[in-house]
Amino acid sequence: MNAIHQFIQDYDSSKQAGRYQISALPTLNLGDDDFDLALCSHFLFLYSEHYDFPFHYQSILEMLRVSQEVRIFPLLTLMLQRSPYLEQVIQALSQAGYQAEVTRVEYELQKGGNEMLVIRK
Ligand SMILES: C[S@@+](CC[C@H](N)C(=O)[O-])C[C@H]1O[C@@H](n2cnc3c(N)ncnc32)[C@H](O)[C@@H]1O
Repeated sequence: MNAIHQFIQDYDSSKQAGRYQISALPTLNLGDDDFDLALCSHFLFLYSEHYDFPFHYQSILEMLRVSQEVRIFPLLTLMLQRSPYLEQVIQALSQAGYQAEVTRVEYELQKGGNEMLVIRK
């Protein structure tokens, strides 16, 4: 609820200042290394039945292009199963030279959905 209130308070002035930008993965209209941190909440992995492995991998690489670190939460599908792409994504990222690890978090919206993927360059 705190996050929602902060967002609503920030939205009008920051929209006018150009801080809110619209893009759709797997392509972001942002520059290389524009950010320290990129967050993806309830999109990648959640919709594993709708988006395939290449979409997931390309989307994560795109977030890594614009940011030093990427965090994705949760790692469950809509059926509350661990995404079938998770291990393949971690393996591909590791082979590409990124550090990828699953960490436990305090927040849990879906039952059992208390894990986050952290990827660093
Ligand atoms: C379940 S909502 C999650 C919203 C918010 N991130 C949250 O955690 O409450 C899924 C979001 O994914 C966004 N979305 C759909 N396709 C997308 C794409 N190709 N790239 C980025 N976001 C997308 C939708 O607009 C929607 O806001």
